[in-house]
Amino acid sequence: MSPDHNSGYPEESLDPQDWDELRSLGRQMIDDMLSYLQTVRERPVWSPMPEDVRAAFQEPLPRSPVKPSDVYRDFRKNVLPYPTGNIHPRFWGWVIGTGTPFGMLAEMLAAGMNPNCGGFDQASTLVERQVIDWAKEMLGYPSQASGLLVNGGSMANLVGLAVARQSKADIEVRRQGLQGVSRRMTLYSSVETHSSVAKAVEILGLGSQSLRLVKTREDFSVDINALAATILADRAEGLKPFCVIGNAGTINTGAIDDLDGLADLCQKEGLWLHVDGAFGALAALSPRLRELVKGMRRADSLAFDLHKWMYMPYEVGCTLVRSEPVHRGTFSLIPAYLARTKRGTSAGPTPFNEYGIELSRSFKALKVWMSLKEHGVDKYGRLIEQNVDQAQYVAKRVETSRELELLAPVPLNVVCFRFFSPELDEPALDRLNEELLLRLQERGAAVLNSTKLHGKYCLRAAITNHRTRREDLDLLIQEVIALGKGILDEGFIGNPR
Ligand SMILES: Cc1ncc(COP(=O)(O)O)c(C=O)c1O
Repeated sequence: MSPDHNSGYPEESLDPQDWDELRSLGRQMIDDMLSYLQTVRERPVWSPMPEDVRAAFQEPLPRSPVKPSDVYRDFRKNVLPYPTGNIHPRFWGWVIGTGTPFGMLAEMLAAGMNPNCGGFDQASTLVERQVIDWAKEMLGYPSQASGLLVNGGSMANLVGLAVARQSKADIEVRRQGLQGVSRRMTLYSSVETHSSVAKAVEILGLGSQSLRLVKTREDFSVDINALAATILADRAEGLKPFCVIGNAGTINTGAIDDLDGLADLCQKEGLWLHVDGAFGALAALSPRLRELVKGMRRADSLAFDLHKWMYMPYEVGCTLVRSEPVHRGTFSLIPAYLARTKRGTSAGPTPFNEYGIELSRSFKALKVWMSLKEHGVDKYGRLIEQNVDQAQYVAKRVETSRELELLAPVPLNVVCFRFFSPELDEPALDRLNEELLLRLQERGAAVLNSTKLHGKYCLRAAITNHRTRREDLDLLIQEVIALGKGILDEGFIGNPR
C-alpha cells in the first residue's frame, strides 16, 4: 500500500499484493481443473451432499481477508465435489450441455479482459458480430437478420416474443403498454411448448390466457389444423391473433413441428412466426438432419442455445430476428449518457444493448468464437448426429427389452421410456419409475429426469453430451432394469394388479 499524499490515508486496490503467489495459485487451479475434466468419467455422475457440507455455506459474512489459497481450498472441499453432474458422460437429464476444456479456458480469458459488451468500439463487439454471422450461416437463417447473444433459451424466447409484440401491436406498445389495445392479442403454440414461452408471455403483459395451447398429433408435433381453427375462432370472438410459436425440438420428446406448414399459415394469416429451437435448431449443423428443421429459416424470430447442443460452457443462447429495424425498434433507448460518438470509445456500429434488455453484458461470444475455431463447425454436426444415433440406440435397446417400454417416438436426441411390469397398474408403474429414477441418480450411475406423457410417468434421457459412449448407454439400460427388478422384488410398490 502506498501512502496517498493528498488524503494521508493509504490507497488500496483489489489486486494481489504478491503477483507471483497468485500466478502460481492460478497455474495450480488450471492444472487441477484440467485434471478434473480429464478424470470426470471416474467419478459418480452426481452425489448427494452431506449435511456438514451444507452447513459450510452458513458462514458469517467475511469481514477480513482470507488467503486466496485458503479460499481455493474451501472451493475444492465444499463446492467442486457437488456439481449438477452435467459434465459427466452419463448425464442426460433435462437438456443440459457439457462444456469443454477449451471453452473453460476461453471463459477465463473473457473474465480476465472483463469487457462490458453492451456497446463500445472494442474487439469483443466484433467477436460477437462474427459469432452471430456464423450462427446465421450455420442455421441457414437470412444473412441480413440481426441477432443478440443472451444468457439462454428462456431469454432468447423473451426477446423474440417482445419483438413480435412490438411488430404486431396496432398501437405504440412501448409508450402505451397493453393498456392501449382494444382487442386482446393472442399467441398460439402446442401444449408441448417449453414453459419459458409462457413465462415470456406473462412478463410481456400479454397474460397466460392469451397463449393458446393447441393439441398435438401422435408424434407430439403441433396439430396445424387445430391451430388454424383456434385462430379462426379467436378472430370470430373479436380477439387479435398475432403470433405462432413453432417448436424445433420440444423439451419433452424432441418433437419438431411442421415449421414450413406453420410459416405458410403465418404468411396467410399475417402472423409473426417465432421458432423455439433451443436445442433442435442445431440439428441444422448435420447434413443428414438439416431437412428436419429447414422450415425455421422462414421464422421472423428464432431462439436457440449454444450451451445445450453446441456444448458451450454456461451461459449462452441467441435470438435471431429477420428484420433488424423491428428488432432495434423494440429495445433501442438512448439517453444522453449512452449517446454514440463519431470517434473514441463510444463509436462503432449499433451497440448490442439496443437489441435486448441488458445494458451491461458479459463477453459470452469469446468461448463460442474460440470453440468454433478449435473444432470447426463440421465436427459439431458430427457430434449432433452421434447423439441422435445414440438416442436411436437407446430406443432400440428399450424396444427389445421385455422389462422396458418406449413411450414416445425419437425424432432427435430425446428418449422417453419406463420400466414396465404387466403385474402393475398405472399408478404403481408411476411410483416404481419415480423411485427408480431417484435411486439411479443417488447411486451416481446416471442422471435422467422425468416427465409425463399422456399421464404416464416417463424416464427421460436427452443426449446433448459429447462425452457419451455406447458403453455408457449399455450401462444405463442395465442399471434401469436391475433397479426396476430390485424395487419390484422388495415389494416397495405394492398394489399388484
Ligand atoms: C425447447 C426449450 N426451450 C427453451 C428452454 C429454456 O432454455 P434455458 O434453460 O437455456 O433458459 C429449454 C431448456 O431446456 C428448452 O428445451
